[in-house]
Amino acid sequence: MPPTGLGLVPGPLRLHLRRGRFTFDTATAIRATAGTEPAAALLRTLLAPATGLPLPLADDGRVVLALDPGLTGLGDQGYGLTVGEDAVLLRAARPAGLLHGVQTLRQLLPPAALLAEPVHGTTWSIPCLETTDVPRFAWRGAMLDVARHFQPVSFLRRFTDLLALHKMNVLHLHLTDDQGWRMPVGAYPRLTEVGGVPHGGAYTRRELTDLVAYAADRGVTVVPEIEMPGHVRAALAAYPHLGNFPERRLEVWDRWGVCDTILGVHDEALDFCRTVLGEVMEVFPSPYVHVGGEECPTDEWHTSPSALRRVADEGLSGPKALRGWLMEQVGAFLTEHGRHPLGWTETGGDLPGSFTVLAWLDQEHGLAAARNGHPVIMTPHRSTYLDYPQSTRPEEPPGQPGFSVDLPTVYATDPAPAHWDAAEAAHVLGTQAQLWTEYVPTAAHAEYLVFPRLCALADTAWSGGHDWDGFRTRLDHHKTRLDALGVPSRPSTFHHPERTPR
Ligand code: ACM
Repeated sequence: MPPTGLGLVPGPLRLHLRRGRFTFDTATAIRATAGTEPAAALLRTLLAPATGLPLPLADDGRVVLALDPGLTGLGDQGYGLTVGEDAVLLRAARPAGLLHGVQTLRQLLPPAALLAEPVHGTTWSIPCLETTDVPRFAWRGAMLDVARHFQPVSFLRRFTDLLALHKMNVLHLHLTDDQGWRMPVGAYPRLTEVGGVPHGGAYTRRELTDLVAYAADRGVTVVPEIEMPGHVRAALAAYPHLGNFPERRLEVWDRWGVCDTILGVHDEALDFCRTVLGEVMEVFPSPYVHVGGEECPTDEWHTSPSALRRVADEGLSGPKALRGWLMEQVGAFLTEHGRHPLGWTETGGDLPGSFTVLAWLDQEHGLAAARNGHPVIMTPHRSTYLDYPQSTRPEEPPGQPGFSVDLPTVYATDPAPAHWDAAEAAHVLGTQAQLWTEYVPTAAHAEYLVFPRLCALADTAWSGGHDWDGFRTRLDHHKTRLDALGVPSRPSTFHHPERTPR
C-alpha cells in the first residue's frame, strides 16, 4: 500500500517516499519540453492565487515536464513523478497524464496552496518521492443535472476544478429534461425561451464553448446529454408539434417524477433530434454524446396515429419497440458523425448494440450489458446517486427521498466486481457519480451532497477501492484541502459511528 501520510486522494498506485524535500520559491522555473506547455500553464494557474509563485518557463528550470509517447506502462492517463531535493521530474506518455500529475504536485504542497487568496510565510515544499501512478478505469466522471435546477457557469467551472483535483476526467452535463432545457439551439430558439425559464435560466453557446475549453485545460471532457424520447416535456412545451398530439398545449412540467408526455416518432421529431444533436456536436467535441433513453412510458405511442403508422411502416412488434427504434436512429446519426452514442440502460439489453451504456438501476444490469457486448459505465443508483442523503439521521439535510447512500457504500462499490470474469470486466469503462437536482436548488447544497462521497468514488475508480482504512486516513488529511477550497463539509458528528464497508 502507498503511504497514507501524504493524504493523496485518489491514492496513487505506487509511491515511495525518500528523505528530504524540494522547495518551490520565486526562483523556481519550469522546463516545459515540447507538448507539455498546457501542463505548465495549469500548474502555474493552480498555484498562483495562494503562493504567488511566478513559475516562469526556462531551459534550465528545475521542475521538468516531459512527454514521451514511448513510455510504457503509463497508458493514456498515467504519469511518473520523481521529486528530489534539487529537481522535480513529471513524465507521461500522453498530455492527460501530465495534467493528473500536476494535481498530485498540488496535493503534495501544504493545503494552504489551495486557498484562493495570497498566503504569506509558508514554505512551499513537497517531500522527495518516486511514484508511478496509473488509473484503474479510463472513465471517472460526475453527472450534474442542470435541467431540474440550473447552475451558473461559474459553478460549472468550480465543479470542473473539483473533479480535476480528484483526477476525474468526465463532466456529464444533463442539459434537458421535463422541467427545463438549458442549451440554446439556433434552429429551435423557443427551447430555451420557454424551457430555460423555470428553476433558473439557460447557458449561452459561448458559455458552453468556453466551459469545454476550460475543462479540457484540466483534463476533463464535457459530455453533453440531451434526453429523448422521455424526459422531453420542456421541449414539447416549446414545440408541441414534436409530440404525439400536436394540438395539445403543454406547460413545462412543474412536478418531479416520470412524466408520461414523450416525443413523437414522426419525421419532424426525427429532424428535431438530428438538428439538435448536430448543434450539440458543434459545441461539444466529446467523443461521446448522451441521448438519455430511460424512463419512457409508451402509453402515448399506443394511441398516437403517427406512432402507430411508424410501427406499421417499420414492421415493429408494437409501440413499445419504438423506443429502441428511435435510439437506433439517433445512435446511427451520431455514429455517422464519428461520435459514440451513450444511453441509460434499464436492463442491459434495451439499447442498440452501437451504444455505450450507463447501468443506473442494479449492478446486474451492468453485467448483462457487458455480456451483450456494450461498453459499460457503472452508475448503480444505490451507490453512485449522490442526491440521496448521506445518512438516515433526522438532522441530515434533504436529498432525493427513498434511500440513503453513505460513504462506505460509495467506496465499496467496485465498478467491475471481483465475481465478474475477465471478459465481462473488460467491458467496464469506469464509473461516475450522479447529482440529480430535483432537491438541490443551490450550488452550496450540491457541494454538500457531493462531498466527501465524490472523494470515495474517485479513489475507487482510480486506485481500486480496497483500502478503506487507508482511505479514511487519507481523507482526514484531504479534508484540509477541501476546507481550503471552501467546500462545505459535513459536521463530523454525522460521521460516527461509521460502518466499515462490506
Ligand atoms: C435516471 O435516474 N433517470 C437515469
